Amino acid sequence: MTTSIVSETETAPADKNFLPGPVLLLGAPGVGKGTQAKALMAAYGIPQISTGDILRANISNGTDLGKAAKALVDQGTLVSDDLVNQMVADRLKQPDTRRGFILDGFPRTLNQANWLDTHLAADSGDLPVVAISIVVEYEQLLHRITGRRISPAGRIYNVYSNPPAVPGICDVDGSTLVQRPDDSEAVFMERMKTFEAQTAPVIEHYRKRGRFEVVDGDRPVEEVTAGILSALKRLRKDSNQ
Ligand code: AP5
Ligand code: MG
Repeated sequence: MTTSIVSETETAPADKNFLPGPVLLLGAPGVGKGTQAKALMAAYGIPQISTGDILRANISNGTDLGKAAKALVDQGTLVSDDLVNQMVADRLKQPDTRRGFILDGFPRTLNQANWLDTHLAADSGDLPVVAISIVVEYEQLLHRITGRRISPAGRIYNVYSNPPAVPGICDVDGSTLVQRPDDSEAVFMERMKTFEAQTAPVIEHYRKRGRFEVVDGDRPVEEVTAGILSALKRLRKDSNQ
């Protein structure tokens, strides 16, 4: 079992032949799960499944799921396991997940982790899950969260570390950037409490199972990506000879 913090700075080459299988990106609010999931998508051509993004899309579209989730998301507490597990089960039926997928923000309770383990074990074609825990210290997380702006399509910016060329406007599609309603300092503190109480045990669950690495997320985005790509190569050595 490997649990050390990796600190590679080399840029690992993108490799569409690499078989990533199911990848979990675990970590506190603002560690960079979404940012890194998009980099892994580009590197390996596998989809990002972000339960937070799916919930926010449902909230914007006013669906029944969105109506049930809105107050919980806005106050920084978790949506029910049954609702979220069902969302993930539906998404995993899509054929684009066959070579692998990146779960961003799921599982975040032990109940969700046990559900996922059982769900994936039922499909004998799947490689075992590998888990990457990204770590960043609290003050830096708060700085990132209050500086984050997103486009309606889910592109992630930061007024401090990754500003758009024109303030408030998405570089790619010209849309107006917004701040997530849960990105205030008060709600961030609630999300951190939820993380410590409910999601930290999930990280322990995967640490104990092995196929797990911790990556230092307090570095430039490209260095964090290189660290994750290197970790995945080690964790998937047996299926990528
Ligand atoms: P979710 O959307 O998953 O939020 P989260 O876990 O709090 O994580 P964030 O999206 O805030 O952070 P991130 O790690 O993705 O960081 P990012 O890459 O954006 O969940 C939201 C809510 O939905 C939950 O509170 C809950 O209510 C509900 N929910 C979701 N999943 C659920 C589940 N499974 N069960 C129940 N409820 C669920 O980066 C953050 C900022 O930092 C950005 O501005 C970025 O540009 C910047 N940044 C990133 N990397 C770096 C870097 N290396 N250096 C400098 N800046 C960086
Ligand atoms: Mg995110």
